[in-house]
Amino acid sequence: MSESSTTPRHEESPWHNPLRDPRDLRLPRIAGPCSIVIFGVTGDLSRKKLLPAIYDLANRGLLPPSFGLTGFGRRDWTQEQFCEFVKENVKAHCRTHFDESTWSQLAKGIRFVQGNFEDASAFERLSTTVAELDRDRGTRGNHAFYMSIPPRDFEVVSRQLANCGLAHSPEGSWRRVIIEKPFGHDLQSAKELDKLVAEVFDPQSVFRIDHYLGKETVQNLLALRFANAMYEPIWNANYVDHVQITMAEDIGVAGRAGYYDGIGAARDVIQNHLLQLLALTAMEEPVSFSAADLTAEKTKVLSAVRLPHDLAAHTARGQYAAGWQGSQEVIGYLEEKGINPHSTTETYAAIRLDIDTRRWAGVPFYLRTGKRLGRRVTEIAVIFKRAPHLPFESTATQELGKNAIVIRIQPDEGVTIRFGSKVPGGTSMEVRDVSMDFSYGRSFTESSPEAYERLILDVLLGDPPLFPTTEEVNLSWKILDPIEDFWSTLGQPQPYRAGTWGPEEAVEMLARDGHRWRMP
Ligand code: BG6
Repeated sequence: MSESSTTPRHEESPWHNPLRDPRDLRLPRIAGPCSIVIFGVTGDLSRKKLLPAIYDLANRGLLPPSFGLTGFGRRDWTQEQFCEFVKENVKAHCRTHFDESTWSQLAKGIRFVQGNFEDASAFERLSTTVAELDRDRGTRGNHAFYMSIPPRDFEVVSRQLANCGLAHSPEGSWRRVIIEKPFGHDLQSAKELDKLVAEVFDPQSVFRIDHYLGKETVQNLLALRFANAMYEPIWNANYVDHVQITMAEDIGVAGRAGYYDGIGAARDVIQNHLLQLLALTAMEEPVSFSAADLTAEKTKVLSAVRLPHDLAAHTARGQYAAGWQGSQEVIGYLEEKGINPHSTTETYAAIRLDIDTRRWAGVPFYLRTGKRLGRRVTEIAVIFKRAPHLPFESTATQELGKNAIVIRIQPDEGVTIRFGSKVPGGTSMEVRDVSMDFSYGRSFTESSPEAYERLILDVLLGDPPLFPTTEEVNLSWKILDPIEDFWSTLGQPQPYRAGTWGPEEAVEMLARDGHRWRMP
């Protein structure tokens, strides 16, 4: 697929990746002439994340003034009504301030195409709209198609795009397709999806979104590990006792029942976000931060992941029951609107994984996630072994825990190092845990862009390092499939009260290995 001859400087250099190129840290990367078409434009993701992210990019001056934004939807809307819909959602959810002049510039490029996915004539109208954007706005044949739609609709939309000639780019321009997770619901379906996508689109033009990779703090994991001398020498089985990766949410599934029921916590976020975090935490230093070098290291780790022999002992499932979230009384999962009242879908999942490499032999990685937990927090905690010898009275160190480096992905993004320190005063030497804290908010004045801002911009720039490859996706399913198969033979997941930290099963799972979950 040929790229535009007018592409900006980052596409001219093999070193355009900003993780690598210090010039890019200073100079903004600005998209060239192009447009984006969103399928599923009235959905939750589009309203709360995609449309605001596009506006924020425009407001930051990172989109070309001629940028085009086309919504494709069933509603019987006029152009003006769609524009009003975009404006309302942008105003409600944008990260940067709402600026009328940015908005009016963006609004000039907004179009709406009414139709359903089965309707070939709607795609002909889309094709005409896109051609008009090229003619009237100068988008030069460069168009991205965002599939913010359920996987069951990928096929029909892809085929329609191919039939109306939008899937392949004319000489000197690009077409890209953005696929939202879930990429299938197991290895088999992921492969089928892939086959379909490959039939229609050039593999180079497919961008699979895992929005965790767009988070600044996830990228900071690479800076922390590879820009510093002090972490890497201890980042291995000689020093690390175990690793806990936690993604806890306080929200339930209200409003997303149709998607979530039958999918569950593990398919929803372990298969993608948490296994990506594991890969970035455990991988070797990549030769560069190019997509090829990054994926080479991540796939090595994912290929080396070993499942526990005893899945009953080393995995745990739960389902939230009614309880309290702060001062608010909340209903249980089975009472949520749209959820099958006998559903066995898990809203909490914890698993132990091992990585069979020299660096990680014998170091368990514990992954856990859940809805309606105590609070919203995502973190990676690397817990170290105890010092081989403690030259203190045993009573002096009874409150001393293990050293830890905790990377807080969200909220309150930062890094905490926990270590032992002498308690001041007293006649004897008493040692207790203290923390040293780095907080993004306190150290930098700039606020972090939303993950979707970064990822949409990367698609428009054709910059692939932050997008998981097919191989990574397939390896992740290979890890999860046996666990899902095992869970499907069990009955109801263990209930846990909303607002707590999950089911007893998960506590026992760690206790068996002599560990405890961190209280984040
Ligand atoms: C999505 C999941 O991928 O991530 C949701 O489908 C989850 O269930 C969301 O709520 C959490 O994202 P974030 O960025 O708020 O941690």
